[in-house]
Amino acid sequence: MKSKSLDHFFYPKSIAVVGASEDPGKAGYQIVRNLLDLQFSGPVYPVNPKLDELCGIKCFPDLAAIPEAVEQMVVSVPAFAVPQVFEQAAKRGDVKAAVIIASGFSETKEPERVQLEKKVLAIAQEAGIRVIGPNCIGVMNTKNHLDTTFAAGIRQVPGGMSVISQSGALGASIMMFATNQAVPIGFAKWAHVGNQADVDVLEVMEYYRDDPDTKAIAMYMEGINNARQFLEVAQSICQEKPVIILKVGRSEVGQGAAASHTGSLAGSDSIYQAAFKQAGILRVDTVEELLDAAKAISMQPLPQGNRIVVLTEAGGPGIIAMDELGLSPEITLAKLSPKTKEKLKEILPPMAIVDHTEGYVDMSAAADEKQHAEALRCILDDPEVDGVVHLSVPPTFLQPKKMGELTAEVVSAFNKPVTVCYLAGDWVQAAREVLEERGIPTFDMPERAAQAMVNLVRRANLVQRVKEQKSTLSVTKAKISESVLNIIQPAQTNQRAVTEPEARSILHGFGVPFVPAELAHNQNEAVDIAKKLGYPVVLKVVSPQIIHKSDVGGVEVNLDSEQKVRSAFSKIVANAEVNMPQAEIQGLLVSKQADAGTELIIGGMRDLQFGPVVMVGFGGIFVEVLKDVSFRVAPISEKEAQAMLRELKLYPLLTGARGQEKIDIDALADMIVKVGQALVEIPHIKEIDLNPVRAYSQEVLALDARIII
Ligand code: COA
Repeated sequence: MKSKSLDHFFYPKSIAVVGASEDPGKAGYQIVRNLLDLQFSGPVYPVNPKLDELCGIKCFPDLAAIPEAVEQMVVSVPAFAVPQVFEQAAKRGDVKAAVIIASGFSETKEPERVQLEKKVLAIAQEAGIRVIGPNCIGVMNTKNHLDTTFAAGIRQVPGGMSVISQSGALGASIMMFATNQAVPIGFAKWAHVGNQADVDVLEVMEYYRDDPDTKAIAMYMEGINNARQFLEVAQSICQEKPVIILKVGRSEVGQGAAASHTGSLAGSDSIYQAAFKQAGILRVDTVEELLDAAKAISMQPLPQGNRIVVLTEAGGPGIIAMDELGLSPEITLAKLSPKTKEKLKEILPPMAIVDHTEGYVDMSAAADEKQHAEALRCILDDPEVDGVVHLSVPPTFLQPKKMGELTAEVVSAFNKPVTVCYLAGDWVQAAREVLEERGIPTFDMPERAAQAMVNLVRRANLVQRVKEQKSTLSVTKAKISESVLNIIQPAQTNQRAVTEPEARSILHGFGVPFVPAELAHNQNEAVDIAKKLGYPVVLKVVSPQIIHKSDVGGVEVNLDSEQKVRSAFSKIVANAEVNMPQAEIQGLLVSKQADAGTELIIGGMRDLQFGPVVMVGFGGIFVEVLKDVSFRVAPISEKEAQAMLRELKLYPLLTGARGQEKIDIDALADMIVKVGQALVEIPHIKEIDLNPVRAYSQEVLALDARIII
């Protein structure tokens, strides 16, 4: 039975290490070494039939020989020896959690080894043992000094972030990097779950959500199989705690590497990007950014807005920080009030630069410790300011520690985030420690302090966004209407495409507005329809075998007279007979020719991992050349659709920039929402293409529709 809690993994009262060894080159040695060196809070029982003692403690020949209770076992024997270890554990009856270090299971995709994993899991489930792994390095917890990994060199520095890594080696290196910084970045818990035979990433995320020591969840991700469920869980967590993810596979080359590494698909990156945003996940680009963001967010309050000030003691670092902020669209440089500027001039030495650039104050190297702190107080006190990046290269006549103490006192008096960079190596070590002890994050370099502030703002925006959008990613099953089934089922049975009139009919049912059109079976009918709709009209061939109508000469436009309609009719039929002789022509669609307008494309598809996904972009040449498109996982709300539109680079064209017609944005957003609904409610649909969509000031019309089932 699945236990809701992973406490048996993170808080075991005792641990047995099966496969312990006195050979320092073996994993089983290092695991015991780590547990002893870190002073794990409970007893450790090494298991090896050849040894009586290991690292100064008693060693047992097998699990049965351990006289005390064993809550967790770490299994570090080769894959084929693992089932026997589980049988022994099952016999004991007290083992509740097992970390399987060994690789050589389902990740190899070899049937015999896939079977081996299943066998181990079956024994475990029967015995009520939860499993992390195989092919993993397990868990760490700084609270009880637990470390099941065979990685040497990870210091256990307590902190507010908890980590999940989809790579054991990288995950361990990240923690070495983090804990070996001049001022270490601490952590609460850490996990690498390998093949996820039992405990998976989602369960660890949920455990971290409920863990009072975890203030921020940081994750290294390669890909995820149960993407939809992941998003739902992440969305629920993000409302309470930040989830920060370094997701690799941004390039096509990177995506290929990720797929072969974990066996899970990396997925199309633009869809991940969109989905993360919907769930409220903060996505970062580098390991350093992951750690810095998690550190800052777990230590500082979120800003109430995005108006930031750089308060520096030296020009160079100040400019670097300003660059970082200036390149971030989320940030606005704060406009200090005249009163604040006056006060700063009073406080600071005469050479200080207070009003050259908005959001920038250079105190100059003449400022002393008190002036540093008072300038910061004055800026934080300004209601126009939401956060401060504070930089200093303390000159030798200052006492850095005193500077840190005074600064910490000021920061603690406000509920606004401050990130600090003191640049001067060992000289500022004590000052940084003072600040960190008081919950103020410090960084080695000005760009890191500035980027951490950007991520505080981004997190604040995401919290706001998740609250406002209230979008639900869960898909409720709807009943498919009889008329839709009457189109889809014959198409499916005969493995044929849905024709344009059929696609129009399906989407019309969801409220998608089209330019008026009717099917004509002969020239006379075509002329009658054209008269009814009004010239000019467009003629298009309708055949289940012809998907790309223009390619076979199946479209004629600008038909502004009866004569032109008749000759276009014969021309299209003749073209189709020559180019696609086997195609069954059901007739020609006579459509009113839409007026010129802004051309867009709205579409949707069923992504392998995320399921229904909608897309909007600028149409015509723009879609190919600029790839100016935006994605979301469906279903989406009207607000979300509006946000998709705002993301387009050419969005200003829709709002009337440069004399363009101001578009009916609400109608456009509504069409995206409806395409999403169609995809969600009709699981048979693989792809929808509304191309082109013409947008005007008063309405938006789809001119063509393609549905692939
Ligand atoms: N009970 C107790 N001890 C056992 C045992 C059993 N059933 N079977 C073997 N042992 C002992 C061995 O005798 C050996 O001790 P010794 O050094 O005194 O001889 C020790 O356990 C380890 O077994 P060994 O066969 O030497 O294996 P190993 O240490 O070389 O390798 C693994 C074991 C699990 C590390 C290896 O098989 C493996 O899978 N490596 C890859 C791990 C990995 O990459 N994991 C994912 C990380 S992201």
